[in-house]
Amino acid sequence: MKIFLDTANLDEIRKGVEWGIVDGVTTNPSLIAKEGRPIEEQIRRIADLVDGDISAEVVATGAEEMMREARQLAAIHPNVVVKVPLTREGIQATTALSKEGIRVNVTLCFSPAQALLAAKAGAYIVSPFVGRLDDVGHTGVDSIRDITQIYRNYGFKTQVLAASLRSPTHVIAAALAGAQIATMPFRVLEMLFNHPLTDKGLEQFLKDWAKVFQQTPVNV
Ligand code: E4P
Repeated sequence: MKIFLDTANLDEIRKGVEWGIVDGVTTNPSLIAKEGRPIEEQIRRIADLVDGDISAEVVATGAEEMMREARQLAAIHPNVVVKVPLTREGIQATTALSKEGIRVNVTLCFSPAQALLAAKAGAYIVSPFVGRLDDVGHTGVDSIRDITQIYRNYGFKTQVLAASLRSPTHVIAAALAGAQIATMPFRVLEMLFNHPLTDKGLEQFLKDWAKVFQQTPVNV
């Protein structure tokens, strides 16, 4: 499973890339607005840091306007994937953009029925939102399982990107459900490292070592 960072923050992206475990980045209008710079500039800076897909979202709501905006976003960098909302207009724009060779991430997907439409329109990625479904009393990860199954049944090439992940449990559930990509905020990526037995075990190893050698291995 590919791991994407769901952020437009350069420090977070730089750190994740240093760890060597980040395959791409997703942004949305809220995340870009949080950084306070024009989208073209911010996406260019992100592209300087990460060698992988970078999702940049349109804010237009009509198909023609979305297509115009999508072409501008796609021209920023070859790694840009244009995010388009799962509306009638969005699906129309996805069909046309995909035919032009522009890669589209269909976002704000909350059901397998919607995901079927995204695949039919030729989307490169579909983004079902897990956490936001949980927020309204559904089991968000079920949608990931159903969508991957439907895509497998018919050989759709659209990649399933599990979005709106809020915890390591969400990430693992998405992986078990067969998502090709999981995007997560930096704080969730950090949480994936943590286990109390790792900390406890390391502390014990270093103590045992110091009892005999009176120094830490790095000073040897
Ligand atoms: C990603 O592409 C989505 O925009 C994002 O994961 C939404 O996450 P949220 O529901 O935590 O805002």
